[in-house]
Amino acid sequence: MSLKRLNIYNVRNIHEQTINPSPGLNFIFGNNASGKSALIEAVFLLGRAKSFRTSSIKSVINFDQQELIVSAQILLDNTQNQHLGIRLDGKNIDIRINQQASQNRSDLAYALPLQIIHPKSFELLDAGAQIRREFLDWGIFNHEESFLPVWRKYKKVLAQRNALLKEKAVSQLDVWNKEMANYGTLVDQYRSQYLEKLKPVLLNTISRFLDLSHMDISLLPGWDKSKLLEEKLIDDLEKDIRYGFTNSGPHRSDFYVTVNNRLAKDVVSRGQLKLLVICLKLAQVELISKERDKFGCILIDDFAAELDMENRAKILFYLHKIQCQVFITATEIGDFGDLSGFENYNMFHMEHGQIDQINVPCGTSL
Ligand SMILES: Nc1ncnc2c1ncn2[C@@H]1O[C@H](COP(=O)(O)OP(=O)(O)OP(=O)(O)O)[C@@H](O)[C@H]1O
Ligand SMILES: [Mg+2]
Repeated sequence: MSLKRLNIYNVRNIHEQTINPSPGLNFIFGNNASGKSALIEAVFLLGRAKSFRTSSIKSVINFDQQELIVSAQILLDNTQNQHLGIRLDGKNIDIRINQQASQNRSDLAYALPLQIIHPKSFELLDAGAQIRREFLDWGIFNHEESFLPVWRKYKKVLAQRNALLKEKAVSQLDVWNKEMANYGTLVDQYRSQYLEKLKPVLLNTISRFLDLSHMDISLLPGWDKSKLLEEKLIDDLEKDIRYGFTNSGPHRSDFYVTVNNRLAKDVVSRGQLKLLVICLKLAQVELISKERDKFGCILIDDFAAELDMENRAKILFYLHKIQCQVFITATEIGDFGDLSGFENYNMFHMEHGQIDQINVPCGTSL
């Protein structure tokens, strides 16, 4: 699956641009503020209906315009095409899949699975647990279609239980404890099964990029598993009423990565941390590609940040081999390193929001 033709209207400083990306590697270079991240943001909007940089869509729409549009022709396999489009005006989201309107962001996410790596991605291993839960849940969402309704039910029941706790409506909690334990246990099962599948793929990916021994990844379920979740909810009742929210359950879960039994984020260098995050994200892509036989795009913004030339070369070689569509940005063309061994890539130059494809004969060393 790859974007064949991409149209961008009014995304930050990009007014109206159309490009024909390669189904493989796409390199985008240009000076600071030329619009490289805006291009990555445009593709991300198309697959996720949100920005990776801000929660305010208004700030992504070009200052002089009222709405932005991103659309693309997607090549599903050698013969089938799909048309995807999104229009955002800061209040409404208009999603079109093959000209049919859709209400659900999840339809877009299934139609165009995206993985993004950008300078703040190291937060996956260095910030609060929410971002790690989202990482796991995105992987499961792409892996098991049955997960999304269960996850939504759990969120709903949790919100209802928390509302009752705030009102101190103790008599009504019994029935919600059962519901929450039921869906919460399922969410936990999905997560632990997913992590078991991801682990060998991840360890294999890590071994390509990092010389670290005794790596491990483990799930923290969000409650003391020596008890059933329902028992824990009953035990916690007094505390939950005092705090006005539910203290135990998969909404508190987390995972951690260790090197020699120490938390990776405490012992590895910053460049290694970025590589670890890249490994986690690429392992997810590999797992989806294995089981669904298709993946959308990998987006890498500011490729050179914190990575030395040797590691950049290793990553590009890997990306070239997995045959997935990739968009990669850097300020200098030389930041991509020696591309003479690569075939069928496209090179784009950005300047003041304009994207120009550059002809680089294959096999040319840059
Ligand atoms: N809503 C907007 N409307 C118009 N221009 C905007 C808007 N938001 C940001 N910009 C401008 O768009 C330009 C491109 O920003 P972008 O972050 O895409 O640059 P970049 O090429 O990724 O730069 P860098 O190399 O520094 O990361 C900047 O000049 C920025 O100020
Ligand atoms: Mg940028």
